[in-house]
Amino acid sequence: MTPQNQSKAIRAIAAQVNVIPIVVLDDAAHARPLAEALVAGGLPVIEVTLRTSAALDAIRVMATVPGATVGAGTLLTPKDAHAAKVAGAQFGVSPGCTPHLAEAVTIENLPLLPGAATASEVMALWQHGYDVAKFFPAEMYGGTEALKSIGAPIQQVAFCPTGGVTSQNAPAYLRLANVMCVGGSWITPKDKIVAGDWAGIEALAREAAALSPHE
Ligand code: 3PG
Repeated sequence: MTPQNQSKAIRAIAAQVNVIPIVVLDDAAHARPLAEALVAGGLPVIEVTLRTSAALDAIRVMATVPGATVGAGTLLTPKDAHAAKVAGAQFGVSPGCTPHLAEAVTIENLPLLPGAATASEVMALWQHGYDVAKFFPAEMYGGTEALKSIGAPIQQVAFCPTGGVTSQNAPAYLRLANVMCVGGSWITPKDKIVAGDWAGIEALAREAAALSPHE
């Protein structure tokens, strides 16, 4: 799958939502009720970070939840891309990008949302064929003002900012012409996951889904 077609697939996935919840799971037993709560709350596109040993099992389970579109985050290596694909991830997300990772997702047929934080990084992705990027870490790299500035000369690339995005600052990102959606972990707080407070997470998802209507 070429980077161009990966980007097309990512745009189609992102068009379903304005917020992608980012999930860090320590226990795969939480995967099903969590995904069900997010889908019920109106956020069916879910990123599970490959930062815990439970992540691949969680992706496997979430991929079977009706209505959920599950991606694997924190892809760092070709091995991560392969494991994510085998587990059933429908897309991948990486904090940055390397030629090795881009080659791996192309071979694996796994649409990638690659990370970039500077104009040169965005240009390198675009040169490679990607016209979508995760702007990461968004708040630390200048937030909405930075994204607006990068978008002025580079209008071809659409972004999903993540890193420090909250219910408070998400609307300002979502108003930018070059933002297709935002990602964040505020919808899936660890204390609520550990307590099994799925109704609470569904409520957070519902609030996030209503932040700014997607056209
Ligand atoms: C990520 O994992 O991609 C982001 O770091 C999530 O950032 P947040 O926890 O600040 O939402």
